[in-house]
Amino acid sequence: MASRFLLLALFALVFSQAIASDPSPLQDFCVADKNSPVFVNGLVCKNPNFTTPEDFFFEGLDQPGNTMNKLGFNANLVNAMALPGLNTLGISLARLDFAPYGLNPPHTHPRATEVFTVVEGTFYVGFVTSNPDNKLFSKVLNKGDVFVFPEGLIHFQFNIGKTSGFGISGLSSQNPGLITIANAVFKSNPPISDDILAKAFQLDKKIVDWLQTQF
Ligand SMILES: *[C@@H]1O[C@H](CO)[C@@H](O)[C@H](O)[C@H]1NC(C)=O
Repeated sequence: MASRFLLLALFALVFSQAIASDPSPLQDFCVADKNSPVFVNGLVCKNPNFTTPEDFFFEGLDQPGNTMNKLGFNANLVNAMALPGLNTLGISLARLDFAPYGLNPPHTHPRATEVFTVVEGTFYVGFVTSNPDNKLFSKVLNKGDVFVFPEGLIHFQFNIGKTSGFGISGLSSQNPGLITIANAVFKSNPPISDDILAKAFQLDKKIVDWLQTQF
């Protein structure tokens, strides 16, 4: 009986850690010391005696990002590297700019849920659930609308307006991480063998070879 309880407690502990996001802070703040040669989970704290208001400050999100690229998209991510005061606080922010018909292509953040607010424009957005359902949850968003993309799930945002648009995303990690599906698959370094990709995507190898030159 006691051992069964122990097993249950152990399972609960392991499970709660497996679903945890960024760890909770153990002090008021831990401003990132970008010069530290020490590697820890997150970034090393600088001496709090030398911490200033500038450490908690970032400017420039009023400026649109440059969307002159194939996707017509730019992300300006304010993570703990960009804003050292965010270190250990489990949160970050991004400004997402879109040219007309600009696309933030299917991607995932391995460590963060994302909540997206439309400031300007009209967007078609969505995310896909895990296997085996792979259910698409999608929606058209207008100015002022908010949509949440659950942690780890593949999602996208597409500007369906004739004008440029932008939004602000909150992310539940100081370092959400980004895996762009097409790039990770077709532009890994070194490349994944075209035999593997041809079989995985049920494509002719020539198409795979062509796709591998596109990113
Ligand atoms: C910060 O300043 C206080 C007061 O001067 C001092 O006692 C403390 O040792 C300092 N802390 C560090 C980490 O330097």
